[in-house]
Amino acid sequence: MAERTLSIIKPDAVAKNKIGEIYRRFEDAGLQIVGARMMHLSREQAEQFYAVHSERGFFNELVSFMISGPVMVQVLEGENAITKNRDLMGATNPAEAEAGTIRADFAESIDANAVHGSDAAETAANEIEFFFGDDGVCPR
Ligand code: PPS
Repeated sequence: MAERTLSIIKPDAVAKNKIGEIYRRFEDAGLQIVGARMMHLSREQAEQFYAVHSERGFFNELVSFMISGPVMVQVLEGENAITKNRDLMGATNPAEAEAGTIRADFAESIDANAVHGSDAAETAANEIEFFFGDDGVCPR
């Protein structure tokens, strides 16, 4: 069954002009972009989005990084979209990411790691709702 997931191209990859190359990887893997918006997150939006990590030591760095420049937010649809996107992304720490993954190829560090992808069905639904609500995503 086709599934949807939320993807964010983070400020480092947007600044490096890698949106197109990353979209190419999604599309080559059979993931369709069914909603997209470019935005510059406010501190409040970033804190809310990452609220689940608020107790972690890196929370402030993560929020500051995510508001340091524009991000490209998209909804990807396809068979096993959540896992497929996580596989394309590679490990959180680019130093540990497999060759050929987005993070291995475009990310600098664990702070500036190029992309975000939902990790489970429930988070995907919540994250899509957070950025798109009822609007901006193609109907199924
Ligand atoms: S995951 O996928 O939730 O298990 O990954 P996790 O390692 O728990 O990391 C959650 C998000 O926090 C970011 N992160 C960091 N940011 C800044 N500094 C450090 N040290 C750091 N460690 C983890 C990581 O990139 C994840 O962000 P998202 O946007 O969810 O990918």
